[in-house]
Amino acid sequence: MVLVSGSGTNLQALLDATASGDFGVVAVGADRHGIEGLTRAGRVGVPTFVEQVSDHANRDEWDESLAVQIAAHKPDLVVSAGFMKILGPRVLAAFPVVNTHPALLPAFPGAHAVRDALAYGVRLTGCTVHLVDTGVDTGPVIAQEAVAVREGDDEETLHERIKTVERRLLVEVVGRMARDGWTVTGRTVRIGRTGE
Ligand code: GRF
Repeated sequence: MVLVSGSGTNLQALLDATASGDFGVVAVGADRHGIEGLTRAGRVGVPTFVEQVSDHANRDEWDESLAVQIAAHKPDLVVSAGFMKILGPRVLAAFPVVNTHPALLPAFPGAHAVRDALAYGVRLTGCTVHLVDTGVDTGPVIAQEAVAVREGDDEETLHERIKTVERRLLVEVVGRMARDGWTVTGRTVRIGRTGE
C-alpha cells in the first residue's frame, strides 16, 4: 500500500507498474483530502482512506488510527511516496515501510531537500529509496541514483528531473522487494531470496 500527501506521480508510477505482475497496490492512504494522489487511486479503483492529524487529539492517536487503517488492507509493504508526515512508532512497529527522498541521504534530509541542496551549491544530488525508521530520513539506504545539478536550475526544474529518476528507481526497488524478498542486517538492506 502507498501513502501520499500530494500530486502522487510516484504513486502513479507504482500503479502503472502493477501491470508487470510483480506487485499490486492494495490501498492508498493520505494525510489530507482533495489531493491528486487520491484521485489517481480512485481512477483505477484502488481503495483510499484519509487520516488527518487534525482529526485526532494528538500524534499518538493519529499514529494508532493510521496503523489500524493500514492493517485493514493487510499490506506486505508500505510505501511512503511523497507522504509529508513523520510516521509514528505503531505504524513502524507493524509494517515494513520504504520511503523515497529527493536527495542523496544522508545529505539533505527533511522536507526541503531540493531547496537545501541548491542552497548548499552541490553539483550532484539525486534520490534515495530507504527503509523508514523513527528518525527523519535516517533509515537504512536501499538504493540511490545521482542527478547532476545544471546551470540555471531552480528548485522546480531540479526537483522535476530528480522525480523522473525517483519514479523509476522506486518502481524498480519495490518490484525487486516484492519478487525476491529482503533482509536487513544492521544498516544493510539486501534484496534477494538468497540474500545476495
Ligand atoms: C517526491 O520528490 C518525494 O521524494 C518527495 O515529494 C515528492 C513527491 O512527489 N518527498 P509526487 O507526489 O510523487 O509527485
